Amino acid sequence: MPETLAHSVVLVVGDLWIAARAEGIEVGWVSLLHPEEVERLLGAPPGYPLLAYLCLGYPKAWPEEPLLQRAGWRPGAPLRRYQQGFP
Ligand SMILES: Cc1cc2nc3c(=O)[nH]c(=O)nc-3n(C[C@H](O)[C@H](O)[C@H](O)COP(=O)(O)O)c2cc1C
Repeated sequence: MPETLAHSVVLVVGDLWIAARAEGIEVGWVSLLHPEEVERLLGAPPGYPLLAYLCLGYPKAWPEEPLLQRAGWRPGAPLRRYQQGFP
């Protein structure tokens, strides 16, 4: 299952994301790009495709309302399970 290599990278991204947030660091995943252009700029050898382009940094603010919700993309959904309490 060669695709497990990509799965493992995404798993690490998730772990990094949780660890970063615990340290007050925000993570952004940039996927609106041309991956082959990034691979070219980085000089990535054949067989090493771009899997994740991440930006990490200390945010200037932590807005109460998520950015995409504020921009009118979609309203937030209730966290029903959280509100009902975990078993
Ligand atoms: C797979 C994936 C791809 C994403 N691609 C983009 C992207 O191209 N542009 C963007 O602005 N946000 C993208 N995001 C969202 C941000 O990386 C990030 O999740 C968001 O800014 C976090 O906002 P929040 O802290 O308000 O929830 C992507 C998220 C994921 C999980």
